[in-house]
Amino acid sequence: MTLPVIDLSRATDATGVGAMADQIDAACRDTGFFYVTGHGVSAQLQTRVEELAREFFALLDAEKSLIGMQHGGRAWRGWFPLGGELTSGVPDEKEGLYFGEELPARDPRVRAGLPLHGANLFPRRPDGLRDAVLEYMQAVTEVGHVLLRSMSVALGLDAGWFDRNLTASPTVLFRIFRYPPAGAESARWSVGEHTDYGLLTILAQDATGGLEVRGRAGWVAAPPIPDAFVVNLGDMLERMTAGRYRSTPHRVRNTSRRDRISFPLFLDPAWTAEVLPVPSATRGAERDREPDASRWDGVSVHDWSGTYGDYLLAKVSKVFPALIDDVMPTS
Ligand code: OGA
Ligand code: NI
Repeated sequence: MTLPVIDLSRATDATGVGAMADQIDAACRDTGFFYVTGHGVSAQLQTRVEELAREFFALLDAEKSLIGMQHGGRAWRGWFPLGGELTSGVPDEKEGLYFGEELPARDPRVRAGLPLHGANLFPRRPDGLRDAVLEYMQAVTEVGHVLLRSMSVALGLDAGWFDRNLTASPTVLFRIFRYPPAGAESARWSVGEHTDYGLLTILAQDATGGLEVRGRAGWVAAPPIPDAFVVNLGDMLERMTAGRYRSTPHRVRNTSRRDRISFPLFLDPAWTAEVLPVPSATRGAERDREPDASRWDGVSVHDWSGTYGDYLLAKVSKVFPALIDDVMPTS
């Protein structure tokens, strides 16, 4: 089985967005993972971000730790070393840089003390990383909004439904990961099986490969395709469609002999949004929904209540237990 490839180059107007809707709908119901091409994000920009990321990761830990996550406070930004993040309680074999929307102290969300909102920690070296990352985040976030418009139509809603209800001020997180070679025999995962939490993840990956997706018939590879992003759906899309769309488990193992670098951007609902099932979006959900008990962390995305921020914080506190005091609203 191979994952579908969807060409976004026609999605420049309402007709194009509508024409893609059937393809998007099929991909979201079937595996919840697909590739997009024709997305308009320049290859030069992607190359620039990749080169700068490699330069940063090549620095000594002592220098990288100047922007360590322990300095990011409530905004939850910065660098973490190999083994610094846990999936299902087990350290991942990865090192990473965490970014988010660059918000000044006067932004109402920052003034209100919302966790994961605020200013980024950018390294002094390499020069240019800051501008490249901010430009990249903006370009890829726009791809996400285009996808959500098409998905809205696919779900029987109008094209502006997400813009109005969930993503007028989205939670945007961007990460750059370095996965060292795991060794062909290694039992350790570069990232263990998990689902993503929000709406859409838009991932660029280098040429190494190693990402795997749990399709209905078992694990399949999501190898790199030149100029394509991998897109997958998060728990909030599964929740609002009552399971018609899938937040698909995935994992990474770098069995190559060199570092793998990847660039996931997460486009998620506003922190304060409550994500509820949307009746017109749940058609056929009974047929598609997976039993909750088979989920990777045993936690149902359907049976809880609260804001997206509550959901995300609960997840984040499991992957970075030592840092949670920094971001909890009561701290
Ligand atoms: C993630 C993730 C995959 C990758 O960050 O949630 O699944 O290839 N990343 O880095
Ligand atoms: Ni993921």
